[in-house]
Amino acid sequence: MDANPISTGKILPPLDARTPEQVVARFGELRKQFDQDVAGATEESGWKSLRDAWVGRKSGVLTQVTDTWLKPAKPELKRSVGQSLNELKAHIEATLEARRAAIEASAEQTALAREREDLSLPGVVRPLGSRHPLRQTFEEIERIFLSLGYSVVAGPEMETPYYNFEALNIPENHPARDNMDTFYMAQPFAENAQGKQGVASLLLRTHTSPMQVRTMEKQQPPVRIIVPGKVYRRDNPDATHGFMFHQMEGLAVDTDITFCDFRGTVEYFVREFLGPNVKTRLRPSYFPFTEPSVEVDATCVFCAGKGCNVCKQSGWIELFGAGMVDPAVYGFVKYDAKRYSGFAFGLGVERLTQLKYNINDLQLYFQNDVRFLRQFA
Ligand code: FA5
Repeated sequence: MDANPISTGKILPPLDARTPEQVVARFGELRKQFDQDVAGATEESGWKSLRDAWVGRKSGVLTQVTDTWLKPAKPELKRSVGQSLNELKAHIEATLEARRAAIEASAEQTALAREREDLSLPGVVRPLGSRHPLRQTFEEIERIFLSLGYSVVAGPEMETPYYNFEALNIPENHPARDNMDTFYMAQPFAENAQGKQGVASLLLRTHTSPMQVRTMEKQQPPVRIIVPGKVYRRDNPDATHGFMFHQMEGLAVDTDITFCDFRGTVEYFVREFLGPNVKTRLRPSYFPFTEPSVEVDATCVFCAGKGCNVCKQSGWIELFGAGMVDPAVYGFVKYDAKRYSGFAFGLGVERLTQLKYNINDLQLYFQNDVRFLRQFA
């Protein structure tokens, strides 16, 4: 028998044996053939073909041996054919099982070797970022006011004209609205928000002051809050302007809050923020929601008040607007203006940060240039 049942797929030839010895010899050839085939099955797919070829139920070699050799065998050879078939079957099954285990183990070894971590490789470098300078300023201002007993509140960036203007004593057509060139939301948005047509548009808040009103509507004095947040104006971007920038609002309302409290708080804040030797002064100004209103100036941090290019030789730089809360605002929130008094201020966070770190261009904050940002690590 020269046929290899796997490679040729030939049908098993008849037994062609007259004595038990010849039977054993024919089975020996078959076993030799199987052993050769086994040697070639080194992977799972080869092993499966081998198994199907030899023990496959329909046309595997063992089935063929049963049908072609055992069943038609002469009675005097039947026993020896049966015995040899059993031995061959046992040998094939044991060998197939052992080979399967070996293939599995070697596949596992290969996978392990492939997946093993190479501890000699360099680690993944994750560069540490730094806090953005504006964030640092926010945190510094918050630290100072939290130590004075203020709490931090946040409000919506999309506002109604009522909170952004009217309730702050800035009625329609008031010239103060011109200073805050406003982004209005497209109509459908406003309709959805208000639930009916024809109402005034929502807008992007132009300052954090609306939160004065929203807070006083919700709570009775004493009020001591700061409001950090984004604000928007249709200003052309340049070294000191952005169309989006940040403010920190402050509001204190209680019985017996005087201009002296206001002055003392402002001075304390500026010294904590810019340094103990910085002096402050108040200049008369105008905001519809404070009366009196002031601009807070500080001695120039770059020349210590001697006069330089930054302060245009004046020795002073403008810091922020502030004042005593106008009693008209109390009217909108139903506070008793005779009983309560207070002050408010609104800091421009970009400009304060520019002063603190001597940054000459406001646009640098938003360009995401790590060479700039790393300087504040
Ligand atoms: C106000 O916005 C008032 N709500 C401040 C206030 C609050 C006064 C409470 C009194 C009581 P003003 O328009 O001046 O005021 O803006 C405040 C600060 O925002 C300015 O001092 C400036 O630092 C900053 N600022 C204004 N416009 C821009 C801009 N386009 N880009 C960057 N910063 C700006």
